[in-house]
Amino acid sequence: MKRVVLICMFFCSISFADVYTLKKCNGCHGDKGMKKALGASVLIGEMSKEDIVFALHAYKNGTKEGSYKTIMMGFVADLNESDIISIAQEIGK
Ligand code: HEC
Repeated sequence: MKRVVLICMFFCSISFADVYTLKKCNGCHGDKGMKKALGASVLIGEMSKEDIVFALHAYKNGTKEGSYKTIMMGFVADLNESDIISIAQEIGK
């Protein structure tokens, strides 16, 4: 069991290629998404993983509404599918 956990930790850390990206998100959304970004966003750390993936896709394809959507559209523009999934795994419930 211990070994399984270790192997998982190893893969999780390498599959999460973009720690740098997550740091960028944390700048506004706080550690683990527990801060209201610019005093405006929901606590993304309270969102489910699925909702985060959905929201990030929606910013990417321009269907997500919100007063600050252009900020987020800028941040998701260069995320690929695996970044999005890793981020959701890391932040979401
Ligand atoms: C410059 C500050 C800033 C940064 C950096 C930032 N965000 Fe945001 N984010 C916001 C704001 C502000 C909103 C609310 C947008 C709105 O209401 O229009 C938001 C909204 C969101 C939402 C949608 C929440 C909802 O209402 O459904 C998600 C998910 C999200 N951000 C994830 C991320 C991720 C992942 C990153 C890193 C790639 C990131 N954000 C980087 C400011 C930021």
